[in-house]
Amino acid sequence: PQTFRILVLPGDHVGPEVMAEALRVLDVVQASSSGKIKFEYNHQIAGGCSIDKHGTPITDEVLRIAKEESDAVLFGSVGGPEWGTTYPNPESGLLRLRQHLDAFANIRPCTFYSRSLIPLSPLKPAIADGTNFILLRENCGGAYFGAKVEEADFASDSWAYRRDEIERCARVAAALATTMGKDGLGTGQCPDGPATVWSSDKANVLASGRLWRRVTSEVFANEFPNIELKHQLADSLSMLMVKNPRMFNGVIHTDNTFGDMLSDQAGGVVGTLGVLPSASLCGIPDGHSRCNGIYEPVHGSAPDIAGKGLVNPTAQILSAALMLRYSFNLAPEAAAIEAAVQKVLDGKDIGGLEIRSGDLGGRATTSQIGDAVCQVLEQILKEKSNSSG
Ligand code: NAD
Ligand code: IPM
Ligand code: MN
Repeated sequence: PQTFRILVLPGDHVGPEVMAEALRVLDVVQASSSGKIKFEYNHQIAGGCSIDKHGTPITDEVLRIAKEESDAVLFGSVGGPEWGTTYPNPESGLLRLRQHLDAFANIRPCTFYSRSLIPLSPLKPAIADGTNFILLRENCGGAYFGAKVEEADFASDSWAYRRDEIERCARVAAALATTMGKDGLGTGQCPDGPATVWSSDKANVLASGRLWRRVTSEVFANEFPNIELKHQLADSLSMLMVKNPRMFNGVIHTDNTFGDMLSDQAGGVVGTLGVLPSASLCGIPDGHSRCNGIYEPVHGSAPDIAGKGLVNPTAQILSAALMLRYSFNLAPEAAAIEAAVQKVLDGKDIGGLEIRSGDLGGRATTSQIGDAVCQVLEQILKEKSNSSG
């Protein structure tokens, strides 16, 4: 079989709850592959639980396993009030992991995975309907990783970018714009050419923003003249994302801090963070090379609902699907998981039952949602293998 080594880091609070469901979904993919696909899990810890056990949010050994012995990292979510924000907090473990793997391209798709979710958006249905963009967040630079000074009465974070950091992110944006519609993430709205790329910065204020805009423009002019590139200041993009999210159908290419904020805002457009996955790639996706990456939901450890079986595992399950697509080149299997999630959200093929978590106005538990996705996925994969002989 094709073997894929997955480092599993569930994290804190709801992290282990959503991870359990994503792993069951991957087990279905493996079991339905007639021996062709084998997932090898290495279970380790990171986050607050690692602080409690090892005194550090991520050990050097886990970082080594991530880089040297894994094809991808499936990450839950870390943090919580019991650990606070004093460095080294649980979140700093995730940042170290991103930096250690140089997982610079953080892909955060924003779309309604089922039409039945459109009425749940806080936006008017006519405005929300059809939203389909990929937010691409630079993940290893900017204010997150610049030089820091932390004193009793003074603190600063250096918001710095080098040309090569912007260039490689722009190339990923171009690759995504080119495949949108073909790889299952897009709507197929761009069969006649690549999607538009919206570059977002504060070039009117920040020196790093001016470099962002200049380098991005050069990359597109020199390497991707067929792709439409537009610039939108990050503050007004944030307003327009609420007023007319469809306007950004395509790819938003932005810096680490703006991307963090805009991706949570994208959760607001959809109506919940519970369905938004993410992929942090260590290379430019080309559809055939294997490339390491970190796959985690956009949401956090949701301490307010942890331990009660209330959390929606969909974002973690969809993150596993992105892992199959981007790190393992298993696009058909990724699409099958996305289709199963959609069918469960639609409420079809599961006896007309509405299997939804509380964030979507339902009463289903985390494991009931996992059960339903697994059941529908088995069916989809069975049909697929029958039809392919
Ligand atoms: P959060 O994303 O954890 O929660 C925000 C709100 O959304 C909460 O009301 C929560 O209950 C709800 N929510 C989030 N995910 C949900 C899901 N899957 N199903 C149903 N409801 C869901 O954000 P927060 O409360 O600001 O942060 C909590 C902790 O998580 C903090 O320590 C933060 O630093 C950390 N965090 C970690 C990650 C990560 O590990 N990748 C990401 C973001 C935040
Ligand atoms: C995210 C999170 C992280 C970030 C934290 C937990 C370090 O909010 O993945 O969006 O700020 O990048
Ligand atoms: Mn965030």
